Amino acid sequence: MKYLSVLLMLSMSLMGASPEVEQYMKELLSAAKAENKSFTGFDAARGKEIFISTHIGKQGKPMSCTTCHTVNLGNSGKNSLTGKVIEPLSPRVNPQRLTRVKEVKKWLKRNFVDVYAREGTAQEKGDVLTYIQKN
Ligand code: HEC
Repeated sequence: MKYLSVLLMLSMSLMGASPEVEQYMKELLSAAKAENKSFTGFDAARGKEIFISTHIGKQGKPMSCTTCHTVNLGNSGKNSLTGKVIEPLSPRVNPQRLTRVKEVKKWLKRNFVDVYAREGTAQEKGDVLTYIQKN
């Protein structure tokens, strides 16, 4: 049993998210199923589209997630609103990423509003986190 939980933790760390973020992903999964009966699972390709596509954001200007995080998640980005450097989003390059649910929730909420002028749905959040995990 101990061996099993070590294995489980190892596989989670290889997936690039902490156990608490994995738990959050499970909650998003249940919420996405409740939102959409035909939902079958999170999809990195949809997540990529969410991340790179341009929308009229909160400030009434075209924005995308890449405006601040750049197209390559392994690179540092820059906050287009404050000019501050943003460390890479990729958990492979930046082990701090996707480790704290509080941070993930706070920034997904704020950043979806920045780009989409609304909050993300459970499916959108799960898709984009799946994409970030794999990059
Ligand atoms: C206006 C600039 C800006 C835009 C646009 C933006 N972000 Fe961010 N994002 C930030 C900043 C600033 C942080 C917090 C600083 C940090 O963590 O380095 C952050 C943090 C995050 C985090 C937290 C990761 C972690 O675990 O630490 C995630 C996830 C994230 N952004 C996803 C997105 C997604 C998805 C989009 C598009 C819907 C997006 N961001 C658009 C500026 C932006």
